[in-house]
Amino acid sequence: MSNISPWKKDFPIFVPQAHPYLCYLDTAATCLTPKHVAEAMFHYQCYSHANSHKGMYQLSMTATEKVEQAREKIASFIGAQQAQSIVFNSGATEGVNLVAYSFVEPLIIEAMSKGERCNIVISAAEHHANLLPWQRLTQQYNIELRIAPLAIDGTIDLARLSLLLDDQTCILAFTHCSNVIGKINAVDKICQLAKNKNIPTLIDGAQAVLRGDINVKAIDCDFYVFSAHKIYGPTGCGVLYAKPHLIEQMRPYQLGGGMINTVDFQQSEYLGGPLKFESGSHNVAGIVGLVEAIDYMNDLSIKDINLYIDDLALYMHKSLRELSFYRPVVDEKLSLMNNKMTSLVSFQCEGIQCQDIANLLDSENVALRAGQHCAQPLHKVLGVNETLRVSLGLYNGYADIDKLIAGLIHCHQVMAMESLA
Ligand SMILES: Cc1ncc(COP(=O)(O)O)c(C=O)c1O
Repeated sequence: MSNISPWKKDFPIFVPQAHPYLCYLDTAATCLTPKHVAEAMFHYQCYSHANSHKGMYQLSMTATEKVEQAREKIASFIGAQQAQSIVFNSGATEGVNLVAYSFVEPLIIEAMSKGERCNIVISAAEHHANLLPWQRLTQQYNIELRIAPLAIDGTIDLARLSLLLDDQTCILAFTHCSNVIGKINAVDKICQLAKNKNIPTLIDGAQAVLRGDINVKAIDCDFYVFSAHKIYGPTGCGVLYAKPHLIEQMRPYQLGGGMINTVDFQQSEYLGGPLKFESGSHNVAGIVGLVEAIDYMNDLSIKDINLYIDDLALYMHKSLRELSFYRPVVDEKLSLMNNKMTSLVSFQCEGIQCQDIANLLDSENVALRAGQHCAQPLHKVLGVNETLRVSLGLYNGYADIDKLIAGLIHCHQVMAMESLA
């Protein structure tokens, strides 16, 4: 493998006029944008922009076609059988909120009207996006929010999760891959556990989608959410996958133009299918960008990208473990033995504040995250107040890892000298 990624040249942010020395290690927050995506969006916005699903003239109909073709493309990308199970929105956050208020809240109200109780189950590893909507619902209806604990390696503990699921659980919502721990959960087994008890499942795929090997049919989840910007697409665009019969059963989340059959002052009839959840105007440029991002990854070969990133991840973990002051947040031994290290790792450096490290590294053009990464309760569970997080993208190479390690060693030396002074 070369020191520099063969695909780095596709990312204009590294050109001499922009940030040629940038060592970007915060892909989990957002992926950098390949020129293919930026150009496709620019081209659409400049030369063929119109409002979709509204006008009967060529430009508008072309925009409509782009959105509907995108549904097909995304369905096939995540292994969904029908394009009608793909709902466009602004991102994973909106997807979770949609399911909370369009699907789960009516279930709670129905159960309560029959004098039954409900509970909601999530895991201890959730991003706030997959915690706060459930927290509000459970507070509002005074029902229980149950938290599934993690196993020693940081994945969801299946045995203990199983004990929390019962016939009053109205949703099991959990992450495919935590944005702090970086390990892939056994989503198919977890969904099977829930299915055995007739419990609907929602998976937060925000961090897992980057690997491009999602198959919602095989996983057999009811809902799956992700954001375009976590897969080399633009911000402000995301996808909710829902099983088609659930789409028909659910009530719309936001109301407005573009989602109705008929409207009267007193009564309205909503459209069926995903359009029911896409009131207002589509983010067509964002959807075009997402499609281009998927095409870009497919053209490079998702398999090759994953092989490349896996190798890089292994190098990163091995290099970090050589630092005497490196303190990972979860036990890595087992994963290292199996070569099952993911491209995201959170850790502390003994004796140095994470924020101080991030600031010093920033001055050396190394961009990484310090803090709680929108997962405060998880940090409490892990017994740390903050962490440093490194996450890789296909533009990274060995040289970036070497720069990180040199930067960390430098920080350690500076801090050691300061403590002596
Ligand atoms: C695991 C996870 N879930 C949800 C989100 C929210 O994604 P977005 O901000 O794109 O809605 C993120 C973003 O970092 C995430 O990492």
